[in-house]
Amino acid sequence: MVDLETGAYATDFEGADFDAIAAARDPALGIDIDPAEDIANIKQRARYAEVFLVRDNGRVNQIILPVYGAGLWSTMRGFIALETDANTIRGLRFYEHAETPGLGDQIDKPAWRSLWPGKQLYGDDPLPQIEVIRGHVDPASPGAVHQVDGISGATLTGRGVTNLVRYWTGPGLRRHPVKKV
Ligand SMILES: Cc1cc2nc3c(=O)[nH]c(=O)nc-3n(C[C@H](O)[C@H](O)[C@H](O)COP(=O)(O)O)c2cc1C
Repeated sequence: MVDLETGAYATDFEGADFDAIAAARDPALGIDIDPAEDIANIKQRARYAEVFLVRDNGRVNQIILPVYGAGLWSTMRGFIALETDANTIRGLRFYEHAETPGLGDQIDKPAWRSLWPGKQLYGDDPLPQIEVIRGHVDPASPGAVHQVDGISGATLTGRGVTNLVRYWTGPGLRRHPVKKV
């Protein structure tokens, strides 16, 4: 468990007991997100997050972080897996959403998921650059390593994915959030 305000591990929790959805609304565990920083459009979140360090022969070789945010119709919840550089994406999967079958639901189909591995969150500055664009990525463009093809007919779902990944990997998480009352 990580305390998102300090970035330190939080020892008072057993991860398996932690319910991030309930905690977001719990006065002791949740905070209201400053609307100016709420790019994922979730309004509240837990102060803590359960993160996973996957080890291979004792060495961490993968970091898995929970991510969620608003799509067109639903809150899309999933996990992003990163290489140990905490920059290169291994994969992005959603386990819950209610985007339209045939349109926004492509976010969790193999074809679209396959576009993510190898993409990078950050460039030269600390703000995440990752973006689901409209149309196809031009591999020759300088931003290509941060770009993922859009889903035709589902630009809004794709924009939601951009925003939620940027929120959970961006500096908004660390800025003095307002304590819930
Ligand atoms: C019944 C219905 C369901 C839709 N479902 C989605 C959806 O799941 N995700 C999405 O981004 N757009 C959905 N749209 C389309 C949006 O209203 C919007 O037109 C679209 O996101 C624009 O993307 P485009 O510019 O790629 O066409 C739906 C439209 C209709 C009529």
